[in-house]
Amino acid sequence: MPCVEGKAYFGGRFLDLALNFNERIESLRLASQPGCRRVDFILPGFIDLHVHMRGLRQRHKGDWSSESLAALHGGVTVVADMPNNDPPIDSEDRLRMKLEEALRESYVDFVLYTMAPFLTDDPSVLGVKVYPQHLYDPRPFQLASSLGKEVVVHAEDPSALKQGPRVERPEDHWKARPRKAEILAVKRVLEVSSLYGSDLRIAHVSLPESVRMGIGKARFEVTPHHLFFNKDSVKGPLAKVNPPLRLKEDSEGLMSLVERGAIQFLVTDHAPHSREEKSRDYSEMPPGIPWLDVMAPFLLLKVKEGAPIQLLDMYSVRPALHMGVPRGSLAPGNLADVVILRREEWIVNEGSLYTKAGDSLLMGKTLPYKVEEVYLRGKLVFNEGPVDGPSGRALEVKRKRKGGSVLQQ
Ligand code: NCD
Ligand code: ZN
Repeated sequence: MPCVEGKAYFGGRFLDLALNFNERIESLRLASQPGCRRVDFILPGFIDLHVHMRGLRQRHKGDWSSESLAALHGGVTVVADMPNNDPPIDSEDRLRMKLEEALRESYVDFVLYTMAPFLTDDPSVLGVKVYPQHLYDPRPFQLASSLGKEVVVHAEDPSALKQGPRVERPEDHWKARPRKAEILAVKRVLEVSSLYGSDLRIAHVSLPESVRMGIGKARFEVTPHHLFFNKDSVKGPLAKVNPPLRLKEDSEGLMSLVERGAIQFLVTDHAPHSREEKSRDYSEMPPGIPWLDVMAPFLLLKVKEGAPIQLLDMYSVRPALHMGVPRGSLAPGNLADVVILRREEWIVNEGSLYTKAGDSLLMGKTLPYKVEEVYLRGKLVFNEGPVDGPSGRALEVKRKRKGGSVLQQ
């Protein structure tokens, strides 16, 4: 049975621990244990509730193979994939098509979302994604309540978006997508979801006001770009992302809401686009930022530098509890999704990334930690690179029905 010992993250802190595991975690004890291999850091496999793996007719942007390898490289073992594919996942047939592709190619485990208004009770579907064009359609809210699924909303009101001024540079993208678009959308979907008793999650929240409006009524996810970056700290094509980067004060406000436990999940909204697409003129350039490759080293570094340690739970145990799956922490009994890192500097550049986007907000930066090994359900799947072919599976989501204590999770 593999045994590793080192600085391990468990129960909200880092301790020197020895971990024994097969398919499941067998024991977690204080180090040292004779015969146990010493490593620098041990983390639970991270769980990202909002990614775009692409594939289908967008393989030039990314496919399940490239983007799931980016995930392993970043210490992520489970992803929840968004349905805005080409074609969109808005029917049973298209859901099957995507499931088959993911099962063939994915190196990580996954769940899927469907595109509003389509929703089905398939156990590999976590919920329905509502984009601005369907923001006020009540059907997904009704369906989600009756099927025990979740409604995940991209909250930017389309009519308020139209009122934004025309801009020409990615650095001005924030001007084109006014704050009131998010505020208005959050307010309205809070009303709609309370009407239907649906389980609501606001995707990639960008303003602290949005969270304050929805405390106790919805869950919130936040991205590393809205937390650690702002409109003045990003230049070039990656500054074009939806919702846009906001003011420094907004990032600080979101960070203090993370500290207070008011935001439930950290998600990347990993959104790869090809180099060619991102080099077009502003108006032709698709929005999105790729993240997966760098996540574990980036988070470890940020936490060392003083960022709230809650961020680690928001990217592991919280999403696991949310989906009702036995993973996301190094607790004995859980499936052994284990990430080993070592202290080693590496430079983020196109050649060091698996994502087809070949780009990162950390481009040219040196990270002091490197993902060495990743175990998925106890099997070594990444050892400075993929070990075998893809072995990702679809998870079976087991969610508590509404009416229970979901919002306390
Ligand atoms: C998303 C993508 O690329 O799929 N991009 C993004 O900026 N978040 C789509 C979107 O949410 O508009
Ligand atoms: Zn997204």
